[in-house]
Amino acid sequence: MTRLLYVLLLVFAIQLSSLSAETLQSPDKKLTLTFSLTEKGEPVYTLLLNLKPVLEKSKLGILSSSGRGFSDGFVLSKVETSFFNNTWDPVWGEVKTIRNQYNEQAFTLIQPSEKNRTIILRFRLYNDGLGFRYEFPRQNQLGYFTVTGELTEFNLTGNHKAWWMPGDYDTNEYLYTTGPLSEINAFEVFASKEKGEKSQAGEAVVQTPLMMKSGDGLYLNIHEAALIDYPAMNLNVDRKTFSISAHLVPSATGAKAYLQTPAKTPWRTIIVTETATAILDSKLILNLNEPSVIENTSWIKPMKYVGIWWEMHVGKSSWNYSDTWNLKLADTDWKSLKPNGRHGATTERTKYYIDFAAKHKIDGVLVEGWNIGWEDWAGNWKEDVFDFVTPYPDFNVSELQDYAASKGVKLIMHHETSASATNFERRFDKAVSFMKKYGYDAVKTGYVGRIIPRGEHHDGQWMVNHYVRTAKGFADNQIMLDAHEPVRPTGLHRTYPNWMANEAARGNEFNGWSYGNTPEHETILPFTRLMGGPMDYTPGIFQIKLDYYQPGKKENVKTTLAKQLALYVTLYSPLQMAADLPENYERFPDAFRFIEEVAVDWDDTNYLEAEPGDYLTVARQAKGTDDWFVGAITDENGRLATINLSFLPRGKSYTATIFQDGTKAHWNSNPMEYVIKTETVSAEKTLSVQLAPGGGAAIILKPSK
Ligand code: NOJ
Ligand code: CA
Repeated sequence: MTRLLYVLLLVFAIQLSSLSAETLQSPDKKLTLTFSLTEKGEPVYTLLLNLKPVLEKSKLGILSSSGRGFSDGFVLSKVETSFFNNTWDPVWGEVKTIRNQYNEQAFTLIQPSEKNRTIILRFRLYNDGLGFRYEFPRQNQLGYFTVTGELTEFNLTGNHKAWWMPGDYDTNEYLYTTGPLSEINAFEVFASKEKGEKSQAGEAVVQTPLMMKSGDGLYLNIHEAALIDYPAMNLNVDRKTFSISAHLVPSATGAKAYLQTPAKTPWRTIIVTETATAILDSKLILNLNEPSVIENTSWIKPMKYVGIWWEMHVGKSSWNYSDTWNLKLADTDWKSLKPNGRHGATTERTKYYIDFAAKHKIDGVLVEGWNIGWEDWAGNWKEDVFDFVTPYPDFNVSELQDYAASKGVKLIMHHETSASATNFERRFDKAVSFMKKYGYDAVKTGYVGRIIPRGEHHDGQWMVNHYVRTAKGFADNQIMLDAHEPVRPTGLHRTYPNWMANEAARGNEFNGWSYGNTPEHETILPFTRLMGGPMDYTPGIFQIKLDYYQPGKKENVKTTLAKQLALYVTLYSPLQMAADLPENYERFPDAFRFIEEVAVDWDDTNYLEAEPGDYLTVARQAKGTDDWFVGAITDENGRLATINLSFLPRGKSYTATIFQDGTKAHWNSNPMEYVIKTETVSAEKTLSVQLAPGGGAAIILKPSK
């Protein structure tokens, strides 16, 4: 049967069960979308790859208390088809140029019973997946309305293997569970000893990006793009039928979103590929976001940084200056508090970090705990914890400004908000003026704890708007942003390229004070959290055994030292921390050389081999140079990484410096053994590098002199 005949039959079959069906193909014709209305006027769609269903007939619709809502009673009034194909250059990124090529179909739907109220369902079909959204044009019949739910379904064809974390309205700081959809049980994960601000969404509710693999080897990823003025989407999983449906994060009132026309939802995305590496190559989510709204981007600079940070997470020093408790921001004489003698962010210690950064080509120094308020910052749901402008008595901000400038190092501001977003917003302008006055052009924000406005969630519409408001506010003042504990990213760094990184997942910090991250964790993150944008994972821990700080401590960082180096390449971010203490780096100068040299901005990226939860090898070309860097990591199983160097220019000889696990290295029993080798290589060569259990390798490739 010819392909055309098959499509015709398929359309016919869909027409039998629906009133009318439209089809659209991806530019390479591999993916087919069908759209139709049922007899009740409900919008439904299907998605096929090579004419095989990827999504069975799935419903679309928005529930609302306005009239009958937006899920049925529709008639189709207009279909507009268009094609798009161009390229654009991100301000920073994994590649220099991105192709944006899709075929689009927009369906205008009218509800006759609601005075012909109108919505548009817009679909964009790429070679590697589908994005679609709901649009509510401005109209007399529809002004303000409340969204009470979203029906969007992704009806899968089988019991796919999934890499998932529990649905939660407040945190993404979980380990992933791997297993069939039928066995998802979020409550079991909640019951385990996890940390973080939690609000359980349900037993069979998971978060996006949800990574899956079908029985016949297809890779699928469900997420969203351009999350603005709407709550984040979790997913309900039907463990018997494998129907997945949207589960929106509620607001404090229980309603999901408050909208006013013209309005649109974020794009719902499903990436479908035949290889795992193609998932990592996908630019679908970025492409669905709007171009940069910042005209002059010359001040936005990818960078590496060190910081007064890990020493607090391992208990060596403290954020707080004194141990006095129950203080009120306005009524406390902070200068007269009795110092506890463990305060990390002192003028002297900051200078030590600045000196280290200057000596080792590190661009910035983050200082946490520099400002008043840390004495009782967490857990009290208190509104005014920080004022964002007053240093502790032992932190001399103007002296440090001069010192950093004299060394050519940038200080990075830290604004923990203790999740009191209202307090941060009220004091935002003063905080920004302070930063500008003292020469800070990058800031790390944080939202630890329960959100204020009380009752709101980290991932609800109010906070989604707050994160975007702050990104814009910082952009207006030429300040780069790295947000911790925000909603997980959805590609908005295309629109706001000063919003360089986010945490929004379980970072290296968990290794400091909890059970930690499993050896497979970093092999899953690129397929899940990083699909929406860069992560501030804070790699680079060399002192992996933590009884070094806390005698008797059993849990260590669950990787080898060489794997910590590889993470600079495998976990993409334009902001990369060298997270360990300078004094530890001084003990391993040969290994630290990799962190000194590794780039943070790239002209090209080649994912060479990958399988979620198992391994990942990637090669990247440093921006504006002929140098390449390779990172290879594995889970708890050792493996031989195969690194085909055909990405190098032909006929050119390169020197490869390979930082790899020692022969007896092991994430648990012997994590800190590594070796460094040098080899002359060229494009014709394939390197085989042995990775230890929980290990990795990092390679610098420079043209031979
Ligand atoms: C949690 C952040 O993820 C971490 O990086 C920071 O040090 C603490 N909060 C304190 O703000
Ligand atoms: Ca965190």
